[in-house]
Amino acid sequence: MSLLKEPDLGTPAKAGPATVSLEVDGLPVTVPEGTSVMRAAALSGVEIPKLCATDNLEPFGSCRLCLVEIDGRKGTPASCTTPVAEGMKVHTQTSRLEKLRQGVMELYISDHPLDCLTCAANGDCELQDMSGAVGLRQVRYGYEGENHLDQPKDTSNPYFDFDPSKCIACSRCVRACGEVQGTFALTIEGRGFESKVSAGAGELFMDSECVSCGACVQACPTATLEERTVVDLGMPSRSVLTTCAYCGVGCSFKAELRGDELVRMVPYKDGGANEGHSCVKGRFAFGYATHPDRVLSPMVRESIDDEWREVDWDTAIGYVAEKMREVQARHGVGAIGGITSSRCTDEEVYVVQKMVRAAFGNNNVDTCARVCHSPTGYGLKQTFGTSAGTQDFRSVAKADVIVVIGANPTDAHPVFASRMKRRLREGAQLIVIDPRRIDLVRSPHVEAAHHLRLAPGTNVAVVNAFAHVIVTEGLADRSFVDERCEEYDEWAAFIAGPENSPEATEEISGVPAAQLRAAARLYASAGNAAIYYGLGVTEHSQGSTMVIGMANLAMATGNIGRDGVGVNPLRGQNNVQGSCDMGSFPHELPGYRHIADDAVRSVFEDVWGRELLAEPGLRIPNMFDAAIDGSFRALFVQGEDIAQSDPNTKHVTAALRAMDLVVVQDLFINETARFAHVFLPGTSFLEKDGTFINAERRINRVRPVMAPKTGKHEWEIVCEIAQAMGYPMEYSHPREIMAEIAALTPTFAGVSFEKLDELGSVQWPCNDNAPEGTPIMHVDGFVRGKGRFVPTPFVPTRERSTRRFPLILTTGRILSQYNVGAQTRRTGNVAWHPEDVLEIHPHDAEVRGIADGDRVTLSSRVGETSLHAVLSDRMPVGVVYTTFHHPVTGANVVTTENSDWATNCPEYKVTAVQVGLKTAGAAVDHAEQAVPVLAD
Ligand code: SF4
Ligand code: SF4
Ligand code: SF4
Ligand code: FES
Repeated sequence: MSLLKEPDLGTPAKAGPATVSLEVDGLPVTVPEGTSVMRAAALSGVEIPKLCATDNLEPFGSCRLCLVEIDGRKGTPASCTTPVAEGMKVHTQTSRLEKLRQGVMELYISDHPLDCLTCAANGDCELQDMSGAVGLRQVRYGYEGENHLDQPKDTSNPYFDFDPSKCIACSRCVRACGEVQGTFALTIEGRGFESKVSAGAGELFMDSECVSCGACVQACPTATLEERTVVDLGMPSRSVLTTCAYCGVGCSFKAELRGDELVRMVPYKDGGANEGHSCVKGRFAFGYATHPDRVLSPMVRESIDDEWREVDWDTAIGYVAEKMREVQARHGVGAIGGITSSRCTDEEVYVVQKMVRAAFGNNNVDTCARVCHSPTGYGLKQTFGTSAGTQDFRSVAKADVIVVIGANPTDAHPVFASRMKRRLREGAQLIVIDPRRIDLVRSPHVEAAHHLRLAPGTNVAVVNAFAHVIVTEGLADRSFVDERCEEYDEWAAFIAGPENSPEATEEISGVPAAQLRAAARLYASAGNAAIYYGLGVTEHSQGSTMVIGMANLAMATGNIGRDGVGVNPLRGQNNVQGSCDMGSFPHELPGYRHIADDAVRSVFEDVWGRELLAEPGLRIPNMFDAAIDGSFRALFVQGEDIAQSDPNTKHVTAALRAMDLVVVQDLFINETARFAHVFLPGTSFLEKDGTFINAERRINRVRPVMAPKTGKHEWEIVCEIAQAMGYPMEYSHPREIMAEIAALTPTFAGVSFEKLDELGSVQWPCNDNAPEGTPIMHVDGFVRGKGRFVPTPFVPTRERSTRRFPLILTTGRILSQYNVGAQTRRTGNVAWHPEDVLEIHPHDAEVRGIADGDRVTLSSRVGETSLHAVLSDRMPVGVVYTTFHHPVTGANVVTTENSDWATNCPEYKVTAVQVGLKTAGAAVDHAEQAVPVLAD
């Protein structure tokens, strides 16, 4: 499509049943009460000139360009700040208004560089447009007066420039940073002619609080804030609507191109997840897709000690098929398997699990979600009946109390965090349950009512204490429970036990009993209370128990089935939800239906034309064990670096070494590829055609911005391997794969590319009962019928601090980097996070003689690495923290084999460690064998 410019109606929409009718330039229009005259005019088809107004920001009324005349009213009010009134007659084009607007524009232009023809924003500048719109023909004041034309540029940000000589002091950037992003990094300093935009206290953008979300750049009507790529490459000329491939928020973007070159990613206003907002990753960090490190040709080698040999696609595919068949002939049908990736599209994931089940003839398929949100799937299915979060993101705007558990949304899910912060600024109360003082605990205009700094590994004790207070103090919503749930009495008897009291929990978790009681009462007494959680919940030995505990809590208080409530996993990677939905687990077919269910299996057998095994296959850890035992010999790994991401590195690499065939499909030669025999180059999100599903079950289209640089789509490669193995699997387009998914999966029955193109996105379930999708789940009843209470006894992790390892290590992520950093480390984002560091409380550092910036050793009972220390009172005493974005960090060298009892999700969040000052030669730097901890 040509360059897509979304309409800007000037001021935000107003909701509400009451409407007002008026006339604009003789045209009748009816709008919701509270709508501005400017928006009403736009809706009637009349565009009023404007500069300081834009429809994602509250009106400000500073530029005086949008003046109108209204019958019966004196003067010329600003239409952006004037609300409509019944029977109003508005005039937008009079000679008086024309003169006034031209006068305003003359003032602006007299203090503006006259370089339109060479300006990067030429053709995409509202100042230029408005000059034309008001009919500016002359500048009576001349250009010689006092001006701002010699203001120095700020080029400190890697992605955008700030050129104050072009600033018209409209304050859109300042308001975008506050209202949309919630960072409040910008201010207007000075008054009148002296007014100027300032990042922080007169700092450079890079030295300020700016998190480079791009909202100010988006809002700026001039070239003052401009993407560097637009300056370098020129103004784009066409757009492709697609979806960010980083985190589970799933933001929609306009990929804007000039010819075949991607110039910029602009957040899409109609994107259901992001509504026009973005973070630094999706907005700017796309350069990895064209990074020279990418491998573009298939490669094969007989042994992992051989050099790689570039081959053509037919050779590579034939080699994989032949070797897979050979392994099966020698070691049995179950000796091979595959792992799917949460970074790939639904269609790409679907064909891999189909290849494993139908072409390989077994159920040895698992997903990288095993190591992140598998407990979410288990826990929510046990209690609610389906493995997905309950709400859409929009719902947070109706929450009165928000509980954030084991998640750091401002870093890991930034666009959702901005929505959440907006609601908190409006007055919702916040409870943060996290050992670390994350930014949300206290940030501009946001302060948590309670920060429960629990000891790592004690989530279940804390959630039980909440429930204990609710049950024993009579705060449960008995009418909801009686009508909608089952097995409450057994659960209530368990939870009322003294071992679950806040007083008993204080000893376990370190959270004062009084604070536990107060927070539980706040949650229970809210009109609407919502829980949002992350990997700090799931990556524990009791990850599944904790998910169940939160579901119990929500049911007990009736916080399920409407806006503003619910239990919501914040998924890590872009398509964690989709990869799970697509049948990637060894025991489940697409739509979370058990492989042992004869009726379900026969539906797939009919369409796939193959008999399927009824027994679940191997989970990832079982595959590794079986590889070391010699019974599992060949593995297809789709877009996931298991040698970096899975725990117990030595075990993983030993398993990979033991196999006869390891096939890696990825963008870059990664750690796993060191043990591979075949490397199949994958496609970046800019080349993919398909769908991702975000944390709110929203199915978004991923549209190709460019042809596959490798010459083949990933789904085609998988189909060709299956065919070469003798199983016919053919599609001419990914829409056909989605059609098959829809035909076989009741929750996707109404999904098609055509519908997604028409509606933009849909949230599953999408079928005859909900043709346009389901924003909120469990509204009239739970998916499983009645919501089920399940007792959640607290069982301490086996991982304890000891005299030798007295500290607890926990891990997380940082805004600018993503996962193991394979993508973001190949972008300008390294400017913010060149290395992982160890955060340690000043007290813990002092007793070890560690100063800020010292290189320290980090050791556990299984391994040791080293990194630089940062002293931080964000940490509680006794707990240290690191991120996992750089392979050299080697955090996985120290993590242990403990895992969730139900799903084997590794316990990345609790490792007993010791930290010491690194002396020369005292510790190994893991540059070679380092393997960072993966969250999802
Ligand atoms: S990029 Fe985002 S955080 Fe930075 S100043 Fe602009 S709006 Fe604020
Ligand atoms: S930088 Fe742009 S948005 Fe900000 S005040 Fe100047 S012209 Fe307006
Ligand atoms: S919040 Fe997530 S999905 Fe949205 S732009 Fe950032 S990384 Fe992409
Ligand atoms: S657009 Fe209304 S005063 Fe600027």
